Amino acid sequence: MPDSEYIIPQLGSLFAIVTLSTMAHIYVTRKIPEEGIVLLKEAGHTVSVSKKDEVLTREELLSALKKEPYDAVLCTLNNTIDSEVMDAVPTAKIFANYAVGYDNIDLDAARERGVTVTNTPGVLTDAVAEHTVALMFALARRVPESDRFVRAGKYTGWGPMLLLGTQLKGSTLGLLGAGRIGTRVAEIASCLGMQVIYYDVKRNEILEKNTNAVFHDTAESVLQSADVVSVHVPLLDSTRHLLNAERLALMKKTALLINTSRGPVVDEVALVGALQEGGIRGAALDVFEHEPALAPGLAELENVILTPHTASATEEARGAMSRIAAENIIAHLNGEKPENSIT
Ligand code: GLV
Ligand code: GLV
Repeated sequence: MPDSEYIIPQLGSLFAIVTLSTMAHIYVTRKIPEEGIVLLKEAGHTVSVSKKDEVLTREELLSALKKEPYDAVLCTLNNTIDSEVMDAVPTAKIFANYAVGYDNIDLDAARERGVTVTNTPGVLTDAVAEHTVALMFALARRVPESDRFVRAGKYTGWGPMLLLGTQLKGSTLGLLGAGRIGTRVAEIASCLGMQVIYYDVKRNEILEKNTNAVFHDTAESVLQSADVVSVHVPLLDSTRHLLNAERLALMKKTALLINTSRGPVVDEVALVGALQEGGIRGAALDVFEHEPALAPGLAELENVILTPHTASATEEARGAMSRIAAENIIAHLNGEKPENSIT
């Protein structure tokens, strides 16, 4: 789309009218890296970004969307986008989610209204995989716990039994979910000399070829065999509480659990129970069932690492997510099907 600032002086007013008529107004529910905002503006659109650098409450979101007949909305994973929200801005036929997961959006409501929903896959794969591996090392070698120990003045000298951890080389990584992120985690793990086993609703031949990963046809079988379990499934009805008390009980007592996917995939109360009772050795969570709240007792456990949903938080990934969300909106406004449309 031509940029009106350059074209108006050169081609005169007739072209300017044509250009202005294709200008759209986009609402962004939260401040995000500038890349995407710049792209939207360069495409000739007007962008309004929420002034509050915090998640908008539902009431705030509804009233913000009712203010103008916006043509598009760029939203984040903590905005619940349901029929009422879509009806607050019936002119917006696209909600571009600034995330790879889109469980915050009611897809049926979107389809009924002819609303396009897009996500930002691919660009955060490395960031999330690297964070997962960071948590795996930190958990296996008890890094945060050791740091707390030293800072608390408890270190009185080297000890042969002090803070023993688990070696990753030779141990088995069990993946629940082997999409892009799970595959990248497996590639890194196999470089570390870990065996990889996985369960997914479909087999991933590239993963098997690149990492010698072995497919298991049930989640239960992976849970029984793995030393480290890492979860990389989207949140769906079928994956909610995939890790419930019963399945947690199948894990080895020495096993470690990592969740960088979505909180409700793990029954957090059951997990606290398993950790307290020694059912498993440790867990690292980047996502929580009732985010940002934590299950009672979780934060008191020494054998737990908690990060604030920052697995995709690299400058590279967050910048690229901003760009991709904007590109999805620009394609839609140009009458094209955005590359990452879900609906
Ligand atoms: C992050 O959690 C995402 O889905 O992008
Ligand atoms: C998400 O990008 C996934 O496929 O794991």
